Amino acid sequence: MAEQELTLEKTEKANDPNEVVIEIKNLKKSFGNKDVLKDINLDVHRGENVVVLGRSGQGKSVTIQCIVGMLVPDGGTLRVFGDDVVDLGEKELKELRMKIGFLFQSGALYDSMTVRENLEFPLTRVLKVTDQSELDQRVEEILTSVGLADAADKMPSDLSGGMRKRAGLARTLIIKPEIMLYDEPTTGLDPITSREISQLILEMQKKYKTTSVIITHDMECARITADRVVIMNEGEYIAEGTFEEMLKSDNELAKSFFKDIS
Ligand SMILES: Nc1ncnc2c1ncn2[C@@H]1O[C@H](COP(=O)(O)OP(=O)(O)OP(=O)(O)O)[C@@H](O)[C@H]1O
Ligand SMILES: [Mg+2]
Repeated sequence: MAEQELTLEKTEKANDPNEVVIEIKNLKKSFGNKDVLKDINLDVHRGENVVVLGRSGQGKSVTIQCIVGMLVPDGGTLRVFGDDVVDLGEKELKELRMKIGFLFQSGALYDSMTVRENLEFPLTRVLKVTDQSELDQRVEEILTSVGLADAADKMPSDLSGGMRKRAGLARTLIIKPEIMLYDEPTTGLDPITSREISQLILEMQKKYKTTSVIITHDMECARITADRVVIMNEGEYIAEGTFEEMLKSDNELAKSFFKDIS
């Protein structure tokens, strides 16, 4: 009970837009002799959507895996809500993960469960909700938010790719995380569905005041969702600005990402 109160207190007081929610300094990570992250520096502020652009294999997914403590960095510091993630014990890491929603690149749902069961799972397992009427109400609320109100009793195999992404997003959002990490949320979707998912990410930011890191190759997604864009190359973040600023940037790599945009 005391633990729960502490979490609530933190959540409620935390509406300061200048607060740095994720603070990354000189982050390094190598695999064998491959230096993937060389010197990553990034502050993400409360309520902000930061889009990370970068070519394949540059370490974008590795960066967010470090943020949730799935990978341990080799150097530098990584603070989330002011706590150094590397120093957290198992219990504290678990508590931190309850505040972070992670939409994986694959966006997996459990295929043997209905959409409703998929959504109830994090509520019963992570938040220990047992009251059926609360479960029903939260499932309905989130499915309505992502435009899937009629799909609660469908199996994932009966959903289209876009609907599966929405359902994956709903499952991540149902625990109302303060931070959302999106790893290529629109990959594999047609342009119209991609745009809908991007709009949804924006709506979720407004509705739940989430702080988000969005990794994407989809420039339309970046345009729709980004308060700020950072470009990652060879283990460093090399340029940043608003979407409009990046559009006019002299940086050669920025130019190559934005060259087809008018
Ligand atoms: N657990 C791991 N063990 C060993 N190498 C890894 C591991 N995770 C990532 N890598 C390597 O780190 C590099 C960066 O991978 P990462 O998945 O972060 O790239 P990315 O920028 O997300 O690329 P993409 O745009 O293709 O998703 C790759 O060379 C990858 O092979
Ligand atoms: Mg990746």
